[in-house]
Amino acid sequence: MRIIGVLTSGGDAPGMNACIRAVVRTALYFGMKVYGISRGYYGLVNDDVIEMHLDSVSDIIQRGGTILYTARCDEFKTKEGMEKSLSTVKKYGIEGIIAIGGDGTFRGAIDLSTHGVPAVGIPGTIDNDLPYTDYTLGFDTAVNTCLNLINNLRDTMTSHERVSIVEVMGRNCGDIALYAGVGGGAEAIIIPEVPINLDDIIKRMQQSRDRGKRSNIILLAEGAGSAENLAKELREKTGYSIRSTIIGHVQRGGAPTMADRILASKFGYHAVELLKNDTGNRAVGIVNNKIVDIDLVEAMNMKRPVDMHMFKLAEILAL
Ligand code: F6P
Repeated sequence: MRIIGVLTSGGDAPGMNACIRAVVRTALYFGMKVYGISRGYYGLVNDDVIEMHLDSVSDIIQRGGTILYTARCDEFKTKEGMEKSLSTVKKYGIEGIIAIGGDGTFRGAIDLSTHGVPAVGIPGTIDNDLPYTDYTLGFDTAVNTCLNLINNLRDTMTSHERVSIVEVMGRNCGDIALYAGVGGGAEAIIIPEVPINLDDIIKRMQQSRDRGKRSNIILLAEGAGSAENLAKELREKTGYSIRSTIIGHVQRGGAPTMADRILASKFGYHAVELLKNDTGNRAVGIVNNKIVDIDLVEAMNMKRPVDMHMFKLAEILAL
């Protein structure tokens, strides 16, 4: 292929800009033409497309968000939306598309491939919920943002001898809570993949208090409940002073970490190489520290069990 397009779609994730940069610069290096499609599939439906040059992606590797903007587009899922998208593709002579985003983005990429436009998916979401890859772009940064905030919470919770319930994002995936919990030394982690045992959590908190521990941090994944409801329930059952904090969209922004910048650069390069070799309908990922690509449909149908070793580790280390 000689002419490709790149878009970001769904929730933004730190590292998307670094990935756009990698796509654009790799494509230009290989002598290809590259178009940026604004606001994800919306830009395809509504012909919002611009040619990207070397300096279009200057000074963005360190920035969170996405210079191409992002949106969720229902019209793309309709017959008319697809027809409009195909005519945009034809107008610019786009032969393949790189779509950076989460599962909704990947479904769009599958639709495009089905309609004869080879597409490659790059996993860009803080949720780390795409089962075929060990990590998604933005996850590392989001967890690090949570860790910084948990450090702050620990200070004030210890001073007041309180319990802090920290709710983090992740949709139905508990990875942000799990990694932030282990990294932040949380006394308990509650994730959607593992049934909650509140009595056990209370017992463990009491034991730690008896030993002289001054604060407790409970990491709660948004898919497993609400921090405010849990705080109320625990307050009634224990009488402890409890505060709840919802980290919210703060964890979606910010400068990407080194890990996300490197991952973005490798993902972007690999995706362009695939299209250069006329290979579409692939999902790029990282498995056992190696950049891989697998069939898009297969990638979406895979299941990844939660890392129970990590979950157990959190319990052991928080004793
Ligand atoms: O998928 C990323 C994510 O941040 C989820 O963790 C969260 O549930 C959702 O998006 C929030 O979506 P919105 O930005 O539309 O509120």
